[in-house]
Amino acid sequence: LPHPGPSDRFSFGLWTVGWQARDTFGDATRPPLDPVRAVHRLAELGAWGITFHDDDLVPPGSTVAEREATIARFRAALAETGLVVPMMTTNLFTHPVFKDGGFTSNDRAVRRYALRKVMRNLELAAELGAGTYVFWGGREGSEFEGAKDVQAALDRYREAIDTLAGWVRGQGWPIRFALEPKPNEPRGDILLPTVGHALAFIAGLEHADMVGVNPEVGHEQMAGLNYAHGVAQALWAGKLFHLDLNGQRSIKFDQDLVFGHGDLVNAFFLVDLLEHGAPGGGPAYDGPRHFDYKPSRTEDDEGVWDSAAANMRTYLLLKERAASYRADPAVAEAMEASGVTSLATPTLDPGETAADLRADTAAWEGFDADKAGERGYGFVRLNQLALEHLMGAR
Ligand code: GCO
Ligand code: MN
Ligand code: MN
Ligand code: MN
Repeated sequence: LPHPGPSDRFSFGLWTVGWQARDTFGDATRPPLDPVRAVHRLAELGAWGITFHDDDLVPPGSTVAEREATIARFRAALAETGLVVPMMTTNLFTHPVFKDGGFTSNDRAVRRYALRKVMRNLELAAELGAGTYVFWGGREGSEFEGAKDVQAALDRYREAIDTLAGWVRGQGWPIRFALEPKPNEPRGDILLPTVGHALAFIAGLEHADMVGVNPEVGHEQMAGLNYAHGVAQALWAGKLFHLDLNGQRSIKFDQDLVFGHGDLVNAFFLVDLLEHGAPGGGPAYDGPRHFDYKPSRTEDDEGVWDSAAANMRTYLLLKERAASYRADPAVAEAMEASGVTSLATPTLDPGETAADLRADTAAWEGFDADKAGERGYGFVRLNQLALEHLMGAR
């Protein structure tokens, strides 16, 4: 079995292995996890990075001196293990003050407080060298249409991101922003519910070049969408700045299972895309392989670390399976026969105009649509080859 190491660039949220498994119906099933222990255990397992919300590391209510001591102790653990902090983010959802959102709360003072909370943590992100800052707006939304002026909320969302991006740019910090979509939970309906909504929102930002997306497997799947397709569109747009890997089984509450423990076939094609890029030459992904999962509530401490290791093993196994898929001449032949590779050829000839196409009788008058309609594409054969590679049969 493959063993993870720093060159694989696997990272974990402190809130993932640190989740005490408190849910809507039940109490915590595990004790709190010391962030320093998380750093050591993750490093031992072969992870490369650790990420966190401001409040994951520094308990809310800490004095300035306590905050500094906590950060110093954490930094010492990083230095000892070599673990890096590639991404940081803000908790704008736990405290009651954020019950109607942070950047888009109907209460203006709350919006200003939310901005300050982010700014405080951005200063720390710059100090720790985190290159990506994630924005997950779990409380930005509503349960009732009449309760939220969505257009005004989007204005305020844009104002927040523009303000923070301008500030980061002015400070000269090498930090990029990544917006994380989610359709619902905890709010009934969350703003920027999918990758597509987020990409459209980003296009209208003042500092659009420094803002991308952080798509999560389960979040797209909660909306019934194809995660690998969402990631492909983000790559195509040059906006895949970061990602959250986990598992989800169909449209239901956010499960945050181990990567691959949900839709394994989609996970296989995702890893293939991230590692190799599109079959037609579209870019691969070179950022952190970040896991945002929750060790199931049934697991004890040992189960927490087993599940952390499982994420990395599954990723590496899928990477190996995807490499064998791509290297198989039978797959290359099937892709060719299916026209998968020919989709990379532009539909018009170089220099050809719409008027030239209008004059091309071979494209219309002489084209036998009925005959072309008889063609079989062989997609099932190709997919079966993928499954056989995924199952280790080839
Ligand atoms: C969720 C989200 C969060 C975010 C985190 C980082 O559904 O709870 O996925 O875990 O990823 O807040 O921004
Ligand atoms: Mn999730
Ligand atoms: Mn989650
Ligand atoms: Mn997430």
